[in-house]
Amino acid sequence: MARTPIIIGNWKMHMLVGEALELARSVRNVLGGISGVEAGVAPPLTALHAVAKQEHDSKLIVAAQNCHFEAQGAFTGEVSVKMIADTGASHVIVGHSERRQIFGESDELVGKKVTAVLAGGLTPVLCIGETLAQREAKQTFDVVARQLQRGLAGVSANNAKRVIVAYEPVWAIGTGKVATTAQAQEVHAFLRGQLGEHYDAGVADAVRIQYGGSVKPDNVKGLMAQPDIDGALVGGASLNAESFVAILKYRQ
Ligand code: 13P
Repeated sequence: MARTPIIIGNWKMHMLVGEALELARSVRNVLGGISGVEAGVAPPLTALHAVAKQEHDSKLIVAAQNCHFEAQGAFTGEVSVKMIADTGASHVIVGHSERRQIFGESDELVGKKVTAVLAGGLTPVLCIGETLAQREAKQTFDVVARQLQRGLAGVSANNAKRVIVAYEPVWAIGTGKVATTAQAQEVHAFLRGQLGEHYDAGVADAVRIQYGGSVKPDNVKGLMAQPDIDGALVGGASLNAESFVAILKYRQ
């Protein structure tokens, strides 16, 4: 089965509303000339509604960067999946390494969020990836296998097919140190194998696995040429229309 590649720009804690609207518009305006790849942006929460509203009728996917797993309640500062759906956004990034490392999110918490996003009818982008210390200690496969398994705990095969997995080695995020195409492909192929073991070949074949970590216009082509790399989650290079569009045009 052919998986449609998906490239999403994770804007992290950048962009005021006006800037976000302008950047989203610049990206959307070129999408007519790019085929065979889905494109998305993940604005900060304060700009989510405005961007989703502006892009309501466009092909540009709008994603939130985080959510809470409960439907509602006394959770000051948190936002539910239903509230995100209410903005018009369709995807939610879950378990980004910055959430795990800076805000202490556990594999179990991330799993609850994935379940909540699926239950709310949105698409989760489940982020996983090892730290430099874990890679050096040869724990990469153990770490990502555990993060994948716990992130998908309780998710049915049918729902698992809707999940997007983002493999983001922590040592490659914001460092300019991209994983080599061989390093990335090796982990992606392993993750697909894990999906086949936990579920079945149909799930393994359907799930899109993005690579993230210092993706730039000059390295995206080699990464996307790998058989198990189905897209990218882009940080720094997505904050500028020119570089993000160059990434989206990796085939041209
Ligand atoms: P950079 O592309 O800035 O390395 O960030 C990657 C990332 O964390 C995307 O979620």
